[in-house]
Amino acid sequence: MISTFLVSILATTASDFNPVVRRNDDSTANNQTLISQLITAATAVDRQALMPDDAQYVYDFQHPPVEDVITKGLGGMTVKADRKAFPLLIGNGVSMTVGFLGPCGFNTPHVHPRSAEINIAVQGHFATEYTLENGARSILNTLEQYQMTVFPQGALHAEWNPDCTNAVFVAGFASEDPGVQQAAQTLLGFSEEFVSPVFGSNNITFDGKDVDTFRAILPKNVALGIDTCLAKCGIQKSAKQALVEV
Ligand SMILES: *[C@@H]1O[C@H](CO)[C@@H](O)[C@H](O)[C@H]1NC(C)=O
Ligand SMILES: *[C@@H]1O[C@H](CO)[C@@H](O)[C@H](O)[C@H]1NC(C)=O
Repeated sequence: MISTFLVSILATTASDFNPVVRRNDDSTANNQTLISQLITAATAVDRQALMPDDAQYVYDFQHPPVEDVITKGLGGMTVKADRKAFPLLIGNGVSMTVGFLGPCGFNTPHVHPRSAEINIAVQGHFATEYTLENGARSILNTLEQYQMTVFPQGALHAEWNPDCTNAVFVAGFASEDPGVQQAAQTLLGFSEEFVSPVFGSNNITFDGKDVDTFRAILPKNVALGIDTCLAKCGIQKSAKQALVEV
């Protein structure tokens, strides 16, 4: 009873995060005509003249202008403002993503190919890990509220919310188009002949069927995190299937 009650409360608070897409009142988001004009404008003053409305200078992460800036999974979502969704960024060299992670929400391992990231916990706290490159040790931390860390450009990193309450991080980038690439999803998206040798070695084999199995079970980002957190917070993950069973 009590746990059902708790789960329903958590579900309610998690839904507070759901960003509402605001359409029709934004003429700049994903507007290729405007983007081309901003990119070719000779000066910053010329760029400003292309955006005559003061409201075009504000980006609302809870009401983003277009759907494709939202990455949503079972554990929460991230909302990005890059130069396509928020053309005001053009010429300014920066961009931002806000992560809204529910209880045990897990932002799966990924890299940003074109920028370092500064990441601050503004609500709740986050367990973080990154590895700079081959040969570097991995760095593990827990960010308390208002603490920040840096994920260097190209470094594989992940963060997750170890609490049973909602958490929010803000990520700043030194690029208008930092890009993002999820590690596991990318690797398993390779053709089978390129994936199997990565996992199979010597007497252990990893055949095409296994590659398909892994592809099928990979969660959408933002995923649900580790089992001890899910148990602590009373969250059901879909029943696990051992690989031998599939
Ligand atoms: C896109 O931007 C151009 C140039 O600023 C503007 O004239 C046009 O109305 C915008 N398009 C939409 C769909 O809002
Ligand atoms: C592979 O298995 C064979 C037979 O069990 C064994 O002799 C051999 O040492 C194994 N090779 C490796 C690299 O584990």
